[in-house]
Amino acid sequence: MAEKHDVVIIGAGAAGMMCAIEAGKRGRRVLVLDHAKAPGEKIRISGGGRCNFTNIHAGPKNFLSENPHFCKSALARYRPQDFVALVERHGIAWHEKTLGQLFCDHSAKDIIRMLLAEVQEAGVALRLATAVSAVERVASGFRVTTDDAAVEAASLVVASGGKSIPKMGATGFAYRIAEQFGLPIVETRPALVPLTLDPAQLEKIGELAGVAADAEARCGKAAFREAVLLTHRGLSGPAILQISSYWREGAEIVLRLMPDIDIASILKGMRRTNGRQAAQTALADILPRRLAQFFAEEAKLAGRMLADLSDKAIDALSASVQNWTLRPAGSEGYRTAEVTLGGVDTRALDSRTMQAREVPGLYFIGECVDVTGWLGGYNFQWAWASGFAAGQEV
Ligand code: FDA
Repeated sequence: MAEKHDVVIIGAGAAGMMCAIEAGKRGRRVLVLDHAKAPGEKIRISGGGRCNFTNIHAGPKNFLSENPHFCKSALARYRPQDFVALVERHGIAWHEKTLGQLFCDHSAKDIIRMLLAEVQEAGVALRLATAVSAVERVASGFRVTTDDAAVEAASLVVASGGKSIPKMGATGFAYRIAEQFGLPIVETRPALVPLTLDPAQLEKIGELAGVAADAEARCGKAAFREAVLLTHRGLSGPAILQISSYWREGAEIVLRLMPDIDIASILKGMRRTNGRQAAQTALADILPRRLAQFFAEEAKLAGRMLADLSDKAIDALSASVQNWTLRPAGSEGYRTAEVTLGGVDTRALDSRTMQAREVPGLYFIGECVDVTGWLGGYNFQWAWASGFAAGQEV
C-alpha cells in the first residue's frame, strides 16, 4: 500500500520549501522528498555563503525566457518585500550590498534555518537522502516510487532545480519528468557562467590572470556594467556572468573598460602636462598596471613617450581599451554555472499556478522552468515567487 499525502514535492531547495510552507499553511498534508542529505544546499553556498536572497528591484525585465510575460503574475503576487518581511520576522539581519542585492549579514544558513522553522510550523514532512526512482499517473493522482517506499498524492510538484553544479546532485531530473508527461522543453544551457578563451587568446592575455576592472560587457543588444575579471581560463566577474546568459557560440563579447572615462582626452591632457612619460605609464593612471602594459604593447606603443604620439595613435589606443572585442571559445559549463537557462517550456504551464495545462495536478517551479534571472538575487526571487504561486493551489 502506498503512503498517501495531498501534495508530494520533489526537491527541498528554495522553491520546493517555499511551496511546502504555503501549502502546509493551507492545511494540506505535504511531503517533501530530496535525494540530498541536507535541504537547501544551494542556498547554503549562495552569495559567497551570505545568500543574496532577493533583489529589491526584481521585475519581469530581469528574467530571460522564451515567454517574457510568463513570470509576471507570480512575481507580482510574491514580491521582494514579502520575502524581506519573512526574513525580518525571523530576526535575520540583512543589508543591501549593491544594485538592490540583499544579503544576510551573517550566514546563508540563517535562511535555511528560517525555511526549516516555517516548514515545521506548517506541519510539512521532510524526507531527505531519498532518491526518486519513478513517477507515474494513478487514479488518485501521482505515485512516486522512492528507494524504500511508494507515496501517492493528488498533486505532484517538481522543484528539483536545473543542471548546474552536478557535484551537488543536480541531475536534470525535472526535464525527464516533463518529457515523460509530454511537456516541451526549451533547450537548456549553462548560464551565469565564466566564459573560456581558446589557447591562442589565452597565451596573449595569460599574463593578465587575476586582473579585474570596471567594465561594460556587451553581447548583441545586452549590456551589463560591473566588474570583469581575467582568469587562467578566460573571462569571469559579475559583468561576464551576466552577459554569459545572452552569449551564444561564435558570438563576440565587447568590453568597454572604464566606461565612464574619456581615455583619449585624459591621455591628450597628459601629453600636454607630462609628455615625457611612457604610454603604458600614463595609461596605468587609468587602468590596472598590467592591463595598461598589455594595451600599450598591443598597440606597439610600449616605451614610446606620450609627446611622440599623434592624436590618431592616442584615439586608437583608447578605442582598443574601450572597444575590446573577444570571441569566447565556450563556457565553463554546468560545473560552475550558477543557473540553467531554458527548461520546462512555459507555454505548457499556467502562469498563475505553475500547473501543467494538460496534466492536472502536476506542477513545475523554480529553476527547472524556462525562467532565468540575472545575477543579483533574482533567481531566488523566482524560486520564492513560483513556489508561493503553486503553494496556493496544490
Ligand atoms: P535547487 O537546486 O535550489 O533545489 C533543488 C533540490 O532538488 C535540491 O535540494 C536537490 O538536491 C533536489 N533534487 C534534484 N534532483 C533530485 C532528484 N532526482 N530526487 C530528489 N531530489 C532531487 N541565486 C540568487 O538569487 N542569489 C544568489 O546569491 C545565488 N548564488 C548562487 C551561487 C551558486 C554557487 C549557485 C550554483 C547558484 C546560486 N544562485 C543564486 C542560484 C540559485 O541557487 C538557484 O536559482 C536556486 O537555488 C534554484 O532553486 P530551486 O529550488 O529551483 O532549485
